[in-house]
Amino acid sequence: MSEVLVLYYSRHGATQEMAQLVARGVEKVTGMTALLRTVPEISTVCEAIKSSVPDQGAPYVSSDDLVRCQGLVLGSPTRFGNMAAPMKHFIDSTSANWMSGHLSGKPAGLFTSASSLHGGHESTLLSMMIPLLHHGMLIVGTPYSEAELITTTTGGTPYGPSHFAGKESNYPLSQDEKNLCIAMGQRVAEVAKKLS
Ligand SMILES: Cc1cc2nc3c(=O)[nH]c(=O)nc-3n(C[C@H](O)[C@H](O)[C@H](O)COP(=O)(O)O)c2cc1C
Repeated sequence: MSEVLVLYYSRHGATQEMAQLVARGVEKVTGMTALLRTVPEISTVCEAIKSSVPDQGAPYVSSDDLVRCQGLVLGSPTRFGNMAAPMKHFIDSTSANWMSGHLSGKPAGLFTSASSLHGGHESTLLSMMIPLLHHGMLIVGTPYSEAELITTTTGGTPYGPSHFAGKESNYPLSQDEKNLCIAMGQRVAEVAKKLS
């Protein structure tokens, strides 16, 4: 089986649910499997070192996951129109993978969750593409052939799936948002399969 790494950070659970749907999309493609991984929290104050296994959710990502995957789908909550610091912190630790070209030529997709409908879904997704382009990845978006992209009244963008989570970050994913997550996972897996 070839693997697509579905790497996410989530505090309230929405981005985690999106990641699980993306993984379901990956596994719709014969011969492809999803590797679900997360990143640890970070802190500006000195804390005890995190255990190597998270209390809940997916295992923490390792540098080796970037080597073995055939594609990557990266998800983060929107934070001031950009990705969350724990995800950026992980990306900033990938210089050895960058120098070795481990991600170069592999497909990548992005997804995000945001409290407000116009609070930076697109800017987060676009800015998350930048380090992946530096890694030489081939960015995969969501085409308008996905009908939900036109009809959605919640999240969903051509730059990748998104979720409108509401002020208290407690709105459930809409059916359109769910379908677009699955479609993204499937699309990245199909491209990865063709390229590998
Ligand atoms: C520091 C901080 C900054 C945030 N910035 C934004 C923002 O720019 N736009 C927005 O719509 N939501 C913003 N949010 C809300 C989160 O994006 C939202 O709660 C998200 O859906 C959480 O995803 P999760 O359930 O995966 O943790 C922010 C939240 C925090 C804590």
